[in-house]
Amino acid sequence: MNNTGLFISFEGIDGAGKSTHISRLADAFQAGGRAVTVTREPGGTELAEKLRCLVLDDAMDPLTESLLIFAARRDHLLRVIAPALLRGDVVLCDRFTDATFAYQGAGRGFDLQVLATLERWVQSGEGLLGDPTGNQPMRPGIETVIEPHLTVWFDLPPEEAARRLAASRLPDRFESQPLAFFQRVTQGYAERQRSHAERFVRINAAQSREAVWRDALWVFVEKGWLPAAALA
Ligand code: TMP
Repeated sequence: MNNTGLFISFEGIDGAGKSTHISRLADAFQAGGRAVTVTREPGGTELAEKLRCLVLDDAMDPLTESLLIFAARRDHLLRVIAPALLRGDVVLCDRFTDATFAYQGAGRGFDLQVLATLERWVQSGEGLLGDPTGNQPMRPGIETVIEPHLTVWFDLPPEEAARRLAASRLPDRFESQPLAFFQRVTQGYAERQRSHAERFVRINAAQSREAVWRDALWVFVEKGWLPAAALA
């Protein structure tokens, strides 16, 4: 187990129950001596959290929504994710760009080609090692598109997610969408899994919480990122 930065994203429709598993994984990595950055999208920086409030609460068209989400992502990458990866942290990110393809692309029906262009612009390494305030010139020449090393998709049938959400807090603009929206979002995640099979792992989130946790843990143990003892 070496200490190069690891970027791990967690996905799933609303109600899939990612959050508790993310914080347990953070504890497991920390117990193994790793520095961990836990963060989320949209959000993770002061600016991105403001954009999150707009996206979750205010009515807007799908292009505006996509642009705000990618703007938040750019700031988040610059200020939090890229620096953490450079330090060698394990970055556990509650949602990332796969959510945009699933929600804005499959869910809202927004143009996937435009999303792919925005993904390339926003996640391009060029500038990501520069000054997040924009006062210093960017460091050119790094052309890799930053994306997660691993994406864990908590796959829960939309009908079950709706049952879980009905019993919880006041829904936001996404959580209040009809079942058909979440069926499309689920198809969107399945499509992302097919097109990014090398980094995508699907977990059956309809199981008991403990069974989901063991499946999640197993993914990390199998990769050699957590010790087998973590399963005990
Ligand atoms: P959360 O409640 O899991 O933090 O996610 C906030 C909401 O934002 C959730 O309903 C999914 C939505 N979302 C998108 O529509 N597109 C995105 O790119 C991201 C990251 C989240």
